[in-house]
Amino acid sequence: MTDLTRANKYEEENRIDKSEKPVFHVTPPVGWMNDPNGFSIFQGKIHLFYQYHPYRDTWGPMHWGHCVSEDFVKWKELPIALAPDKDYDAAGCFSGSAIETEDGHVLIYTGVMEKKGADGGKEVVQQQCMAIGDGIYYEKADGNPVLPAELLPDGFSREDFRDPKVWREEETYYLVAGNRNGSQNGQVVLFASENLKDWRYISVLAHNQGKYGKMWECPDFFSLGQKYILVVSPQDMRADGAEFHNGNQAAALIGEYDRQTYHLREEQVVSLDYGTDFYAPQTLETKDGRRIMIAWMQSWDMNIKPAEQRWNGMMTIPRQLELRNHVLYQYPVKELDRYRTEPVVYKDKEISGHCQIPGVRGRVLDLTVELQGGDYREFTVSFAGNEEYHTSFRYVRATQCIEFDRTFSGMERDAVCQRSMKIKNAGETLKLRLLLDKFSVELFVNDGVQTFTSTFYTPLDAQDIVFVCDKRARVNIEKYNIILDGEEEGGDLFERV
Ligand code: FRU
Repeated sequence: MTDLTRANKYEEENRIDKSEKPVFHVTPPVGWMNDPNGFSIFQGKIHLFYQYHPYRDTWGPMHWGHCVSEDFVKWKELPIALAPDKDYDAAGCFSGSAIETEDGHVLIYTGVMEKKGADGGKEVVQQQCMAIGDGIYYEKADGNPVLPAELLPDGFSREDFRDPKVWREEETYYLVAGNRNGSQNGQVVLFASENLKDWRYISVLAHNQGKYGKMWECPDFFSLGQKYILVVSPQDMRADGAEFHNGNQAAALIGEYDRQTYHLREEQVVSLDYGTDFYAPQTLETKDGRRIMIAWMQSWDMNIKPAEQRWNGMMTIPRQLELRNHVLYQYPVKELDRYRTEPVVYKDKEISGHCQIPGVRGRVLDLTVELQGGDYREFTVSFAGNEEYHTSFRYVRATQCIEFDRTFSGMERDAVCQRSMKIKNAGETLKLRLLLDKFSVELFVNDGVQTFTSTFYTPLDAQDIVFVCDKRARVNIEKYNIILDGEEEGGDLFERV
């Protein structure tokens, strides 16, 4: 039995029942998931692969899990696409991307090898490899690694050279990958190819200048509005004021792309999310020109979940990105609207003290609260609550901060359970949109100027939503349940290998 067949068989025999998992966020069938990989459109369908270790709920030899969707919201699981079964990827099929070509769906991923070094110690080499498939089954290319570490200039790390993101411009394919330079600083290297098999080194597209973490993981590069954006996930970030509080943090460098030097001239660097659980985002472009981003909704540094839960990791809702007046906006894909049902709407409602509002409760929903005004100093939205548990966002007017608190979410070993986010350009009104899906919250502030994403593994009978206000606030409230029809059919799987 091949490693891939064994992994698929294990998955089949150990698949976790859907009722135990979130409704509209991608989760692993069983075991561990991290980064989104190969987020792409192939033959009109949206494909998502992910770093996957089916056998345990912790990280291990990396496979590529796979699922497909027609609308970014409802996903079908597909057979595992890659297992670490060749000499050049025996230590893992690490992150990478995918692209549609005339020959099929091409995956470009990092093959990790471990060898014995000259001093007898372990030496790690990371190189870029290719696999090609029909949207369900994939074969690794004969010429792997197609982009060997020797193509890097001297002094660049061969041990930290990973996470290729590929795109096409006219007849040329380009690829960016994360790397370290001789001073151990993070950088993004750019390569080009005419056929995806023969690559040449072009440039260092950007580097961290000793400022933004160390190694840069999972780069992605694209134009948006009038600018170019380089998304990176730096390791070992240092907090800077209210920014960058996760040790592993995702950021966007926004600037101009100099096509003479193939260098990004950065003009601003922004946090992509302020919560505890958001990393390694990757994007695709839809046929109608939308740039959609998805990220791993869990984290390396605070990877906490109930011990008995046999799956670990989720993806965020896919989010549309837009750059308007130099501000990067993120909001849930519009396709989610189709699944919003049972609207509950209140206009100009006065909230004071503790308030529970008829029809506003639950764990799988889309809730918008618009603070219109009033003499309040603090306003809190508390959710996933009952007499024992709650998690909350509290807006403090004087400091213009939103304070997240999951101290009483029921999670054990949750040492980092509070986090504050300073609102950018705070005004008289404040719009908070919360997406809840059993164990996660994604908060979009003021139509997506800032986002805050966190997990909380509270028992599911904690359904209350409570608004708390120290004085009076006038609010508009709009709440929908999110229901994926056909969910109950379950399974609905493609035939397995
Ligand atoms: C980011 C990352 C990538 C790597 C993968 C391994 O979370 O560390 O750099 O390819 O995870 O699973």
